[in-house]
Amino acid sequence: MTAEDLRQRYLEFLRCKRHAVIPSASLIPREDSSTLFTGSGMQPLVPYLLGENHPKGTRLCNSQKCFRAEDMEEIGDNRHNTVFEMLGNWSFGDYFKKEQLNWFFQFLTEELRLDPNRLYVSVFSGNKDIGVPRDEESVEIWKDIFSRYGIQAQIVEEAEKKGLGGGRIFYYNESKNWWSRSGKPADIPVGEIGGPDSEVFYDLGEELSRHAKSPWKDQPCHINCDCGRFIEIGNSVFIEYVKTEQGFDRLAQKNVDFGGGLERMAMIMQGKTNVYETDLFQNVLDKIESLSGGKKYQDNIKPFEVIADHLKATTFIMGDNKGIKPSNTDQGYIVRRLIRRTIRYGRQIGIDSQEPWLPEVVKIIIGDYKKVYPELSQNLEFIIEGVKEEQAKFEKTLNKGLKEFKRIISSKEEADRVLTGQEAFDLYQTYGFPIEMTEELALEKGLKVDREDFSGQLKKHQELSRTASAGKFKGGLADVREETKKLHTAAHLLLAALRKVLGNHVHQKGSNITAQRLRFDFSHSEKLTDEQKQEVEELVNKAIEKDLSVICEEMSLEEAKNNGAVATFEDKYEDKVKVYKIGEGNNVFSYELCGGPHIDRLGKLGYFKIKKEESSSAGVRRIKAVLTAKE
Ligand code: ALA
Repeated sequence: MTAEDLRQRYLEFLRCKRHAVIPSASLIPREDSSTLFTGSGMQPLVPYLLGENHPKGTRLCNSQKCFRAEDMEEIGDNRHNTVFEMLGNWSFGDYFKKEQLNWFFQFLTEELRLDPNRLYVSVFSGNKDIGVPRDEESVEIWKDIFSRYGIQAQIVEEAEKKGLGGGRIFYYNESKNWWSRSGKPADIPVGEIGGPDSEVFYDLGEELSRHAKSPWKDQPCHINCDCGRFIEIGNSVFIEYVKTEQGFDRLAQKNVDFGGGLERMAMIMQGKTNVYETDLFQNVLDKIESLSGGKKYQDNIKPFEVIADHLKATTFIMGDNKGIKPSNTDQGYIVRRLIRRTIRYGRQIGIDSQEPWLPEVVKIIIGDYKKVYPELSQNLEFIIEGVKEEQAKFEKTLNKGLKEFKRIISSKEEADRVLTGQEAFDLYQTYGFPIEMTEELALEKGLKVDREDFSGQLKKHQELSRTASAGKFKGGLADVREETKKLHTAAHLLLAALRKVLGNHVHQKGSNITAQRLRFDFSHSEKLTDEQKQEVEELVNKAIEKDLSVICEEMSLEEAKNNGAVATFEDKYEDKVKVYKIGEGNNVFSYELCGGPHIDRLGKLGYFKIKKEESSSAGVRRIKAVLTAKE
């Protein structure tokens, strides 16, 4: 069964269960800028999991392009890709555990005809501290499902300590069986949604276990132990919780968020033990083989997989209609790392680095995927030019950089196995070595890099403000819910309107925004008259009525100032800043430095209303305002 077949079968299976098939969302999130990339199918659907109506109804499915930068260094272990396709289905307050678990099992055993004896499942063991009980409901459903196939499913607890123990259903705690887009219960911000999940694993056979040689060899083997025997092929998340200050509350509706890796399922269906051996990678690996002058994939697994994966990721990210190019910030920086790492691994298998060979591989990838993702061929020129340029840039300095790296290494005493921040920074600044690459090179020689010191150097030189995917919301935002984002955008409108009505002496002095209301402090010494308040409201509501667009631009602080952007806390900004522009052309309503996130169009805001205007401190006024449904 080809991967294409599999994708179709899955979507068709769910279509018959009254799911609407929706297209893959962009790899670069629009609504949800809490992460740099779309890393799962649910991300673009958060508003509907929270209760908003989706135009296509309460049952959806798709195959979603996903990218997970955190897996970059895992490539080479037979099951990881940074870019992959996730088969997904969702219930927005519609069906729940019973249907979901039954359907997925039915898909695996009846559609794909997998042997049920090779399937194992995990469920959440509960956590009193966060008020989420053991998922006994799923256990009962699983027992029932297995018994229909004549399998007496044994339940095992603490498999990490006890091993498989003849079990079929395994309880794990939140480290394994809890899912949210921002991680585990303890780490996620207030307002984030998530829930317990139940995963299905496929047993590739004991002979594939590398347990005896693995870092876990002193612990027993179990379905979650990563030794290579079991592979996770699908995750049903029961999204019914939202994080609060105290713990977790139930959401108004019970949702299902299912995701299963297409590449992994294809691997099993094609009788392979490695995702790179599936038809999805065949043409690319052949191309790499010929570019390397006939080196074999099987003898050079890591470099082949890194190149195949990273160029696929580069192609997908650059080909996503968002114009992402290699750069030193955000998504662009990830693309830069992907390309530079590709070039380095290309050298290991003797690919002549002076030739622009990256486009050759990119063309193969586009050819393989153009039917499913037509945007790739639409952006072919852009991708090809981009990788060519980046390769040329890096080739110029790579040799010298590697020489310099060797010099640094050889100057180190036996006792001194650390690269200083300054050394790593010079490699970065002069030779374009991403810090992660320097770390990787150093590790190969048994050295570490003083990352903290490097960050200090970086800051000192104010070179870039590479925004980590986490921690983007430092402003006055309580969380990243849609409602909160709307009020955040409303705060920009408010500031712009206040400056129009009261004058340009008005600056933001602070803000606090929740999903219910915004609080906004600004410099002005007199109480606002009723007319002024009304004027401000009218200006904001007119802008909303026009459904102006909210556009994010990146530029140097200098440029932003020259363009007249309004800045709030001058000294907090780095050299490279984001500016949010509301409106376009002659119709720019607000132009403000900000880290985001914002919604993309004003039409969604509804009606803006000032609830209160009062003194905050000397020379500072405070406004409390809300958004209500359109009047
Ligand atoms: N969103 C869930 C995951 O990524 C299905 O595992």
